Amino acid sequence: MAEISNPSKYLGNELNYLQKVLEGESWSSTGGSWTISLEQAFAKKFGMKHAVAFNSGTSTLHAALEAVGVGPGDEVISPAITVIMDTTATIHANAVPVYADVKPKTFTMDPDDVARKITSKTKAIITVSIYGLSPDMDPILAVAKKHGIPVIEDNAQAVLSYYKGRLLGTLGDVASFSFENTKHISCGEGGLIVSNNEAIAEMCRKIGGHGFKNLKADEGRIRLTQDVFQNPNYKRHDVLGWNYRLAEFNAAVALAQLERVDELVDLRIKSANILIDAMKTCDYLIPQELPDGYVNSFYTLGAVYEGVSSIGVSWEDFRKAYIEAGGDGIYGAWSVPYLEPMVANRQFAKRCPWVYEKISYSAGLCPVAEQIQPKIMQFKTNYRDVTLAEKKADILRTVIKKFASQ
Ligand SMILES: Cc1ncc(COP(=O)(O)O)c(C=O)c1O
Repeated sequence: MAEISNPSKYLGNELNYLQKVLEGESWSSTGGSWTISLEQAFAKKFGMKHAVAFNSGTSTLHAALEAVGVGPGDEVISPAITVIMDTTATIHANAVPVYADVKPKTFTMDPDDVARKITSKTKAIITVSIYGLSPDMDPILAVAKKHGIPVIEDNAQAVLSYYKGRLLGTLGDVASFSFENTKHISCGEGGLIVSNNEAIAEMCRKIGGHGFKNLKADEGRIRLTQDVFQNPNYKRHDVLGWNYRLAEFNAAVALAQLERVDELVDLRIKSANILIDAMKTCDYLIPQELPDGYVNSFYTLGAVYEGVSSIGVSWEDFRKAYIEAGGDGIYGAWSVPYLEPMVANRQFAKRCPWVYEKISYSAGLCPVAEQIQPKIMQFKTNYRDVTLAEKKADILRTVIKKFASQ
């Protein structure tokens, strides 16, 4: 057996629950109880009525878009600083991605640009809490309400983040989370949506569960009545769906992680603040701004690197120096989605040629995002122990000092 390099990642009930799944009768949520337990615990933690587990934080977005009624040719607004999945989920719903620019200091969606991008075709807005920080939600929610547009929160990077004292996940019509390997709560791959709207939650579950007609907002098992279910005359499907279900193994691990979520989030916040302290020893690493009343759960610590103009050191050379001194890898921000070849070269258009015939994207669409994206550095916050974060912060200080004396 391979040596476990990071044992405290599963210091809770993970192994115990996994064994119980193995010993149980069903390894699928269609018959088991672990996914339901995860959903109920998650809904309770967030004070939400409904939770539906998924196999990723992308399938959640696709299902949520379809569940709120997005269809061919509709427009979906998402920010220009985010991962590709907000775009791909939109395209998988045969809808057209529309990009809102971001605010330069918070990197989050600019509410004024959201308002500018709304047309009669806009059928959803995806708000992304990038690196764990909420966008300015009030004006976005207000403009969405004015036009009757549903808001989908993409909180893949934000768990127990707050916006003006309100918990993220509770603000939009439906909110999406990811349990992918690097996330606050992880089970390798997984996701979950929460909503207080029963119809949306039920539709999400059906879309993610082959469209089985007996699926409900709070019921993911499909074989409740064996005699009926096994009968050849039984008609099962009343909605076009996919198989986006979470396996019971993943649900069990995610549940064990959820039990420790306060501790896991707290560790990321503490680690980020330790690194932010080190950044204060220079003027060219400017952390993502934290507006008053917000809590950033720091999936990673984002910072704008101004070292090229300040000390004449390139982004790549600063990263290299940090790694060589014992620091961790620094991630850049993902390219603005519309400059990824799949989007820029219109490869996506084959998904639905008649919808995308006249749709194309090019540089210049969201100037702020395009300007800050190459400068962003993402520092790791996923330490299992604050002493490790302190060690990395010391290394960062040393590197900053070294460049100051050159
Ligand atoms: C902001 C954001 N949205 C969506 C996703 C997609 O989640 P997943 O990898 O679980 O599909 C991610 C994860 O990488 C993400 O960071």
